[in-house]
Parts: sequence; structure tokens; C-alpha cells
Amino acid sequence: TKPLRIALAGLGTVGGGVIRLLDTNGALIARRAGRPIEIVAVSARDRSKDRGVDITRFAWVDDTTALANVDADVVVELVGGSDGPALALARATLAAGKSFVTANKAMLAHHGLELARAAEAANVALKFEAAVAGGVPVIKGLREGAAANEIERVYGILNGTCNFILSKMEAEGRDFADVLAEAQALGFAEADPSFDIDGVDAAHKLSLLASLAFGTQPAFADVAASGIRHVLTADIAEAASLGYRVRLLGLAESGPAGLFQRVHPHLVPIDHPLAHVTGATNAVVAEGNFVGRLLFQGPGAGDGPTASAVVADLIDIARGEFGPAFAMPAAALIEQAPADSGER
Ligand code: NDP
Ligand code: HSE
Repeated sequence: TKPLRIALAGLGTVGGGVIRLLDTNGALIARRAGRPIEIVAVSARDRSKDRGVDITRFAWVDDTTALANVDADVVVELVGGSDGPALALARATLAAGKSFVTANKAMLAHHGLELARAAEAANVALKFEAAVAGGVPVIKGLREGAAANEIERVYGILNGTCNFILSKMEAEGRDFADVLAEAQALGFAEADPSFDIDGVDAAHKLSLLASLAFGTQPAFADVAASGIRHVLTADIAEAASLGYRVRLLGLAESGPAGLFQRVHPHLVPIDHPLAHVTGATNAVVAEGNFVGRLLFQGPGAGDGPTASAVVADLIDIARGEFGPAFAMPAAALIEQAPADSGER
């Protein structure tokens, strides 16, 4: 059978994870996908960097945007950044009529609607399971699993780095900078970690979840966000003495007042399930009018979980199973006015 041929941009934490996952589980993946999934070409900044995996078996492409034109079926973008080479590659790939898979929530939060339109015009897939909550299949869960429900609210722990920092500060009494450095070494943090600790990454993800939950256009500009940069070990100890844990939560609600989207540190009562989500774990709660309360929880960052979500998208494409990128075709997504998020 004809393999699904992949051009891979970005060979860092997640890109390296994708190569290792396909190397390790390739036979199982081929059985499940109905055909092999094979990387044929790669691109990154530095061709000579030691990546712990053999990349000499793939064609190397210097100009990352030119990956759109290699002889491949799907381009996978694991470079990052809301604009720049990631966006140029996304546009070029969809314009070339090829499917596109990405973990890049920053790009989708800013340009998701445009890219969804381009994918539909070309009748190809735009898939991004890895962009929210790493290995947790929350995109598929909302778009497909909860498709028959009116979702009233979606909220949760959306940034692994922040949850890792907050839970280590509490459990081990360590200071913020020390734990952030460990999260970076483990590959959890963004290239610019201020995106994590200032709540921007969680806001990117919340805007995508809100779109999927409510059938609205992604509206990142309407998310009010603050992060955990100023949380002290003493604040966490004080909260614990009162029966709370500090968690960075994102919350989106759609109602008569409009779309409410907010990310900020919360005091979570110790008996609430989100207080017991520790480390780089993410947890997303969605409340639907027929299904009730859904909880999606699992590893939210790191090479293995994120690669797992990327390859799951590739398996869908190999099977020919894909629908619209968001909750419905892009033209049907509602443009909803923002609620005044300062009211809550
Ligand atoms: P890394 O920084 O580890 O890797 C980025 C890769 O992109 C590197 O291979 C780098 O090349 C390449 N790159 C960077 N800039 C350029 C450029 N201008 N032109 C060409 N290649 C470039 O990032 P991650 O793997 O951690 O993240 C990749 C994406 O996945 C991001 O969008 C991130 O938000 C997302 N993501 C990350 C998760 C994680 O846990 N790390 C989880 C979920 C999503 P070189 O190696 O040569 O320097
Ligand atoms: N930097 C992100 C996080 C990676 O810590 O959650 C996963 O999206």
C-alpha cells in the first residue's frame, strides 16, 4: 500500500519526538492507519545539530517554507511562532493543496480562521490535536465526542509549565526561577517562556477551545490573561493554610452577554479535582447540556505526549478521516461579541 509521505518542519522537542515515535511504533501505526506513515523530508535551522536521532535518511530542505513543495502528502509544522516561517509554511502548504498538521497554538489563535478557510478551499485537512493539552485528545473530544451538545462552559489547567512550577513550589518549597529552569530543561516550556508564565500560551489554547466548544470564530484578542510570574512560595503556603491551591486556569463561557474568556491564577479549594492535578498535567472540563460534565486529563507537554497527538492526526489523515478544522465549516463559525471579562 502507498505510504502517507510526511515533510517535517522543526526537529526540536516535539519534532524529535515524532521521529522517535514513528521509529518505535511504526508497524503498529501502519496497521492502524491502513498504510505506513513515512517521513521523507525535514527542515530546521541547523542541519548539523546532534538530535539524538538519525536524520540523514531524510531529504534535508534548507528553506523551511519550501517544504510545502516537496513530494509529500502532508506537511507537519513543529517550529512554533505565530507568524514567520510557521505561517509562511502553513499558507504555502494549503495553497499547494496538501494537508497540514501543527502543534502551534500561537499561530492558530491568531490565524486559525484564515487557515481553516484555506484548508476547506483546497479540500485538505488542517489538524492540531497537539496544540491544546499535549497528549490529551481534547480537540477530538470537543469537536467530535461532544458534537451533539450545547456546551455551556469550558475551563481548566491549560499550561503544563505553570502547573509544574506551582505544584513543585508547593510540594518542594522551591523558588519560581529554579522550577522554571527545570521545566525548560524537560522541554515543557515555550521557546520564550514568558508566553507560559504570563498566561499567553494558556490564552492561545483557551481561544481554540472556546471556538470548538461554542462554534465561534477563534477570538484570541478578546482573552483577558494574566500569569503566575509574581506568585511567591509564601503565597502558595498561605493559600494552603486556608485550604486552597493556586492554579492557573483558563475559563470560557458563552452567554447572552457575549463570549467571556479569561486566564488568571485562581485559588482552587483543596477538595476540587483541579487542585489535585500536579506536574505538567493538563485538565479540561467541558459542561454539555446532554452529556453532563466531561473531564479530559493527562500529560499536557513534553516530547512523547505531544508527538503522540501529532501522529494521531496523521493516522486520521492516512485513513481519509477528517472534517473541518474547528466545530463546523469556517463560514458557519459565529463571530461573537466579547463579554466584559473584567466583570467576573
Ligand atoms: P523547540 O524549540 O524544541 O524546536 C523548534 C524547532 O524548530 C527546532 O528544530 C528549530 O531548529 C526549528 N526552528 C526554530 N526556528 C526556526 C526557523 N526560523 N526556521 C526553521 N526552523 C526553525 O520547540 P518545541 O518542539 O518545544 O515546540 C514546537 C511547537 O510545538 C511549538 O509551536 C510549540 O508551541 C508546540 N508545542 C510544544 C509542546 C512541548 O511540550 N514542547 C507541547 C505542545 C505544543 P533547530 O533545532 O535547528 O534550532
Ligand atoms: N509550553 C506549553 C506548556 C507546551 O507548558 O503547556 C504545551 O502546549
